[in-house]
Amino acid sequence: MKQRPNNVYLNSDHSAVMIIDQTQLPNREVILENKTPEEMFVAIKDLKVRGAPAIGIFAAFAIYVLAKNNCNQDSYQEFYEDFMRHKSYLDSSRPTAVNLSWALNRMEDVVLSNSSDSITNIIKALEVEAKEIQAEDIAMCKSISENGLLILKDKKNIITHCNAGPLATSLYGTALGPLILAKEKGMDLHVYVDETRPLLQGARLTTYELDKHGIDVTLICDNMAGMLMNQGKIDACFVGCDRVAANGDTANKIGTLSLAILANHYDIPFYVLGPSSTIDLETKTGDEIVIEERNSEEIRSKWYKEPMAPPVNAYNPAFDVTDHHLINGIITEKGICYSPYEESLSKIFDENDVD
Ligand code: MRU
Repeated sequence: MKQRPNNVYLNSDHSAVMIIDQTQLPNREVILENKTPEEMFVAIKDLKVRGAPAIGIFAAFAIYVLAKNNCNQDSYQEFYEDFMRHKSYLDSSRPTAVNLSWALNRMEDVVLSNSSDSITNIIKALEVEAKEIQAEDIAMCKSISENGLLILKDKKNIITHCNAGPLATSLYGTALGPLILAKEKGMDLHVYVDETRPLLQGARLTTYELDKHGIDVTLICDNMAGMLMNQGKIDACFVGCDRVAANGDTANKIGTLSLAILANHYDIPFYVLGPSSTIDLETKTGDEIVIEERNSEEIRSKWYKEPMAPPVNAYNPAFDVTDHHLINGIITEKGICYSPYEESLSKIFDENDVD
């Protein structure tokens, strides 16, 4: 696959984490510098950096920068306390995607396992770990793309929801990875993209990424998928994930559940694509997943010159949970997991691949 620059990276003196501000896309490609804990928190909270794997990678670089520049360097105990304060703060920015706490916990493990070393060396080890988290994600997305391609072979018309492309990860993406790889291999694909109300990640980001790769794209409103399925225009659904529970229940962008129910009704295969860093065996079922609720103005007024509703209550859950019965397969870097997911997902964490 063609390489492209990472979306999350350090500036030259490691005083900031740099990102492409995803809230400005597709109209402006703006690079944003994040130096303070507050800037880093807001970058995640306001979806300037978004997508489960990208949030994890950003948080790893962010906590490294804060450890280097904002933590006491005189005693290990004080360094550790400062580190933990920043860690909890970043971790509280968004609750649903497990990659955030997963990456921050990996960074804390580095601090703990090097406690007898100098603080200078602990900070060096944190830099190495953050880069490793990103490098692993690149490799995982590449393998997910190759595994997803096996499913795509006889399918031409795919529908996707939200954005699970390069912007949401390190390089290749998860749900969009196989589509980009297929295009590079000369396959003739067509992708329907749900606009993804209310924050329009599909309309703003997925169309932008697929179009850049020369893939034939049709943007639709979220409520049009049923009609297209009824007309026989969809061969498969490919979506990303924010947290996969041990039984295969999957949290992803609000609207994923409706798409899965429709696909099930029309007997269209529904695939979830994600790296093992998004699988959370500690969470037994989807009922335990905390769903982020966002500001209701995102529904009432965000994209309009004037509010498009009177000031009534609006409910704005950012994610929903798709029951594992509705999922035909979970495509990971280790292979494709099928039901029963308790078994196939736990095998992911064994030494050998599932397939
Ligand atoms: O609120 P967002 O835009 O962060 O939600 C993102 C999604 O739901 C993605 O599908 C998921 O994180 C997978 S990204 C590879």
